[in-house]
Amino acid sequence: MKNKIALIGAGNIGGTMAHLIALKKMGDVVIFDVNEGVAKGKALDIAQSSAIEHFDLSIKGTSNYADIKDADVVIVSAGFARKPGMSRDDLLVKNAGVMKEVAEGIRQYAPNAFVIVITNPLDLMVAEVQEKSGLPANKVVGMAGVLDSSRLRLFLAEALNVVPDEVNAFVLGGHGDTMVSMIRYASVGGVSIQELIDMGRITKEQVDQIIARTADGGAEVVKLLQTGSAFFTPASSALLMAEAYLRDSKRVLPCSVKLNGEYGYKDIYVGVPVVIGKNGVEQIIEVHMNNEEKEKFQISCGKILEMKKQAAQILGK
Ligand code: APR
Repeated sequence: MKNKIALIGAGNIGGTMAHLIALKKMGDVVIFDVNEGVAKGKALDIAQSSAIEHFDLSIKGTSNYADIKDADVVIVSAGFARKPGMSRDDLLVKNAGVMKEVAEGIRQYAPNAFVIVITNPLDLMVAEVQEKSGLPANKVVGMAGVLDSSRLRLFLAEALNVVPDEVNAFVLGGHGDTMVSMIRYASVGGVSIQELIDMGRITKEQVDQIIARTADGGAEVVKLLQTGSAFFTPASSALLMAEAYLRDSKRVLPCSVKLNGEYGYKDIYVGVPVVIGKNGVEQIIEVHMNNEEKEKFQISCGKILEMKKQAAQILGK
């Protein structure tokens, strides 16, 4: 049977995901948006390429939640991006409202789905969807680490003049400027970055600059685009996670997941490495952190908890 993938949000990320799903022949697609015309228009446009791209899939646009019924995977990119003059709090309130609606739709029509949330502020929005949908925490994850790690891998690869997928590196913590690049575990073709620094292939200063550029990765794209934010790599990143679930591939990916004592935290969604397979999050991997990494991770978690508290006050819960 074909997989059914529901995309909530037909904006830049939703549209790109729908196109990629068709090209990768991953399954039938339902694109949901409050703006029905955008959802239907993008679906029709993609469907019209099926003879050229050789896919035989149903690509449907809708503004009716009943159409996501029994989706295997639901990927959420609905919401608003921060506009000039809009505070972080305003964004939080608006997108939390969107997540509540989305969670209700998922609870009613796709309670067995694997749910991937992309909407920012990520670690809070994914928590909101999990809480309001009532789905188990292993089935609701946030996409950030795969994107941030992919940026880190590209920048390291460029500096070392190697192909990016030879670079193994991951980023932990919250999705924002407090993310923690776990450079101590990064390697190129099995050789650690520290070893490469010792060999003179790259300097410590270059690595530090790359870490800073990664933390600023989203903002760099926003600045260039002028309107909107990154969407190609966010779309690819979420689909890598969806594929790991649908194929039961047990891929190790950094995702925002709900901790239950791991890393010394409980009831907080934050980025850590996990194994994704047919049961969703099948393992949370607790990597050893040195004191500096621990401190950075704690700052990152502190920031999420602070925002969560603020959100609770604003939203009155
Ligand atoms: N229900 C469904 N869709 C909604 C709702 C809602 N309540 N509110 C807004 N949308 C839709 C909009 O109509 C729009 O089509 O969400 C879509 C968002 O698309 P874009 O503005 O193009 O944003 P995009 O670049 O796709 O990013 C979406 O992901 O990375 C994050 O920060 C980013 O939060 C943002 C989200």
